[in-house]
Parts: sequence; C-alpha cells; structure tokens
Amino acid sequence: MQPFDYRDGQLFAEGVSLPALAERFGTPTYVYSRAHIEAQYRAYADALAGMEHLVCFAVKANSNLGVLNVLARLGAGFDIVSRGELERVLAAGGTPAKIVFSGVGKSRDDMRRALEVGVHCFNVESDVELERLQEVAAELGVKAPVSLRVNPDVDAQTHPYISTGLKENKFGISIDIAEAVYARAAELPNLEVVGVDCHIGSQLTQLEPFLDALERLLALVDRLAARGIAIKHLDLGGGLGVRYRDEQPPLAGDYIAAVRERLAGRELALVFEPGRSIVANAGVLLTRVEYLKHTEHKDFAVIDAAMNDLIRPALYQAWMDIVPVQPRAGEARPYDLVGPICETGDFLGKDRELVLAEGDLLAVRSAGAYGFVMSSNYNTRGRAAEVLVDGEQAHLVRRRETVEELYAGESLLPN
Ligand code: LLP
Repeated sequence: MQPFDYRDGQLFAEGVSLPALAERFGTPTYVYSRAHIEAQYRAYADALAGMEHLVCFAVKANSNLGVLNVLARLGAGFDIVSRGELERVLAAGGTPAKIVFSGVGKSRDDMRRALEVGVHCFNVESDVELERLQEVAAELGVKAPVSLRVNPDVDAQTHPYISTGLKENKFGISIDIAEAVYARAAELPNLEVVGVDCHIGSQLTQLEPFLDALERLLALVDRLAARGIAIKHLDLGGGLGVRYRDEQPPLAGDYIAAVRERLAGRELALVFEPGRSIVANAGVLLTRVEYLKHTEHKDFAVIDAAMNDLIRPALYQAWMDIVPVQPRAGEARPYDLVGPICETGDFLGKDRELVLAEGDLLAVRSAGAYGFVMSSNYNTRGRAAEVLVDGEQAHLVRRRETVEELYAGESLLPN
C-alpha cells in the first residue's frame, strides 16, 4: 500500500489531499498515515504469530502521543530510553508490562519510576548500571527483570553515527565478558535475569549482520545455560532499514522467518525494537517554497522547513526524496532546497531537478522516523505541527508551537 500517492495531479495522504492539509494546518507540518503505521507493525506481529513475542516500537523514532496511541491500540510494546518516553507511553495508553527500557545512562529516578510501573525488562548496558539497578530495586523491595545488552562486535555496514554493535561503540557489554557479568547479575538478590539483548545499528539493508549477531547471542545463551543461567527471551533490537531512495531492505516478514528458522527447537521468546521500519515511510514533511533565488552559480529554493525541523540531511548527509505536491509543467532546474536558518548546513536536499514557482508545496518523503523528534527551536523557530491522517479524516496530533511558548520558561534579571 502506498500511503502517499498522486490523484488528480495532487499528492494525497490516504484520502486527504496535501494542499487541503496545508490550507487547514499551515506549513511546515509533519503528516503521518495511520494505515501505514498499522500495516508496518502488523508485518512484525503477524510474522511472530504462534510464538511468545513482543514488538516494542522504539519510541525515539516518533514519540507523538497520537502515533503511540495507534500502536498501543494494536497491542504493541514499546522500547524506551528515558523517563520522558516512559511517561509518553503511559499517557498514550501503552501497557507497562510490554515496555523494555534501553539506554546507556539510566538515572536512579528513571529506574525507580520504571520499577514502580512494572516494565517488562531493563536492557542493562554496563556492569556499573547493574549494581545501581540492584540498589534501587532493593530500596523499593522489588526484583528488577534484566537483560544485558550485549555487544556482539558485528559490522552493521551502515552510517558510522548509527552503527552501534562494534567494540569501539559506547553501547552494551562486550560479548567477551558478558558471561561474567551475567554470573554477577544472577547472584544479585533484587535482579532477575530474563533475557539477552542486542541492537547493532540502524538502517541496515542486509540480513547478514542481524543473523551473525543472532548466532553469537545463541552461543552465549548456551554457555549461560551450562552455568545454570536460564534465558527466557532474546531481544534483537531494531535496525531494519527502509527505502529512502533505491535501497532494497529485507521485509520484516523475511527477517523474522530467518530468525525463527535459527531458533527452531528452542524455548525462547522473541522481542524486537523496530523504530524506523514502522514509521519512516508513514510520514512526510509538508513545506512551502518561500522564494526562488537564482544566482550565477546555483538555483536555490528557500523553503519554510529547515534543519531545525528535519536534521537528518545536515547531520548524516541523509538523502531524502523531495517531491512537488502539485507537479507543474515546465523546464526542470537543479535546485538546492534550503531553509531560512543562518547556517550553510541548512539544506534538506541538493541538486534536485524540479519545476517550481514561489508558493508551491513540497513533500519531503520518508520523514516519519527521526524527523519531528529530532527537531529543535534553533533560530527561535517554533516546532512544526503534526497531523495524523486516518482515511478521509485528518487529526491535529500536535499543534504548531507559538513564539510566546518558546521563551515562556525564561526570565529577565531582577532590577
Ligand atoms: N533499540 C535501540 C536500543 C536503539 O538504540 C534504536 C535506535 C532502536 C532500537 C531503533 O532502531 P531503528 O529500528 O529505528 O533502526 N537518528 C538516526 C537513527 C538513530 C538510531 C538510534 N537507535 C537517524 O535519523 O538515522
């Protein structure tokens, strides 16, 4: 299913035209498709049918309450990395017992709150975190369910900033010492070892790195069993890539089938933490051309969305497709699509062959993951609105920030 498609010369989000949304909500605006989010989630859940599993949406990819609520209604679990994400999931109707808590820097406060609500598991990233979790759980008089996030040292073959499974990364516990750390966890009275976890990187477009990691994890599970430490679930993290341009990432169903094949005969439950593959292609960033600025060297389209709205092109040199909402006839020119921010790095695309006029609407595709969530108020720009389309209906799930809100928490010096 194509969530964003042309009909009668206009780009639609499901049953609603993007010009109608621009008219109603202004620009820049993030637009998400409920149907696409649901279909992507179901691809995971359906492939896992018949075995114990959790599909924990990685909240960092898109933490809008409306989006989380769509997933919670389907019975999704959630992967969180902060107290803030925990509260969002609860506010969106998520079930605490389906939450896994990842992240290298959990504070005591984070741990306390997660223990109070009763999360499914803590994915512990270091020996020192393990000791702290024991202390906090003891203070509360409870047992904390734990997995160790193991670093299997496989090359995810992705952008260095989003590759996390190599020895030199800050994440996880080296697989070489994991057994010893598990032995320690097993003797701590307020911890209960339940799983093994890994996450090797993001935007992976091949299965091999996932399956290499899986083999190493299974070997670890066997070594732990020999020591009398029983593992109930394997958490393989997120990381499945999407198509931004011409990538051909594996489908969730094929990935899971390959994992299930290797698990045959074992009594292990499976947990996944997909983010990007659920929401990236469920979203576009809708923006309007403010100016066409032609210079001797370049043609610039100055648009009303900027790096503060969508930082992926500037931060990762990410290529994101940018299409006209109402394509017009004429001669295409190679435009650099730049925002109003005072930085040379403020671009969303370069050398894009487009036919444009001032006031035209553009859609930046595949912007549903790591889009709004990474936005900032740089240059005192309010963050964009977010709209969730459901068939013929469009719901404003986050209103545009006003200028007054941006400095509401600040104050002048006393006289
Ligand atoms: N689990 C853990 C522990 C993670 O660190 C991440 C992502 C995920 C799951 C979800 O991974 P996904 O399925 O989305 O690949 N801002 C970057 C991506 C950073 C990913 C960080 N960790 C980007 O815009 O490409």
